Amino acid sequence: MAKTKIPLKVLTELNRQLNYELTAAHAYLAMSAWCAGQNLKGFASFFSKQASEEREHAEKLMEHLQDRGMIPELAAIAAPKHNFGSLLEVAKQAQTMEEANTRGINTVYEAAAAARDYPAQVLMHWFINEQVEEEAWAAEMADRVQSATCAGSLLDLDRHIEKLLGAAPGE
Ligand SMILES: [Fe+2]
Ligand SMILES: [Fe+2]
Repeated sequence: MAKTKIPLKVLTELNRQLNYELTAAHAYLAMSAWCAGQNLKGFASFFSKQASEEREHAEKLMEHLQDRGMIPELAAIAAPKHNFGSLLEVAKQAQTMEEANTRGINTVYEAAAAARDYPAQVLMHWFINEQVEEEAWAAEMADRVQSATCAGSLLDLDRHIEKLLGAAPGE
């Protein structure tokens, strides 16, 4: 194994972030399951795809560590919240998670900038940009769910949510 060129602080942050992405994947999968249980198939599908996307984010971070001679350290992932009082609660959780994720990405970037770790900075540019999209759909989802005041409008929203939020995540 090649000796690492990743500064320790950056390595720690990259590892933390990769585990956060997996935690997010786990949470989105639970949100998808809750939505499926409410017959909200559109939301269930959206969150299921979102879970896959978060896993891809984790893999992107793993690949970066591996390319630089490190073995990523996977942490235990706590059970996600699986019971919700309403779809609005689900949407708000998505928004809170994405905002927290942005702070995590920024922290990695700040560590990479401080350590003059250019490869990690470039990688984080991709993630910073991705978070702009992630926060946008999460905010739009929360707004739209909040506006759907009756059962009918909620079912209508469920039918169209994937298209409204820009098809499959990542596109
Ligand atoms: Fe992510
Ligand atoms: Fe995300």
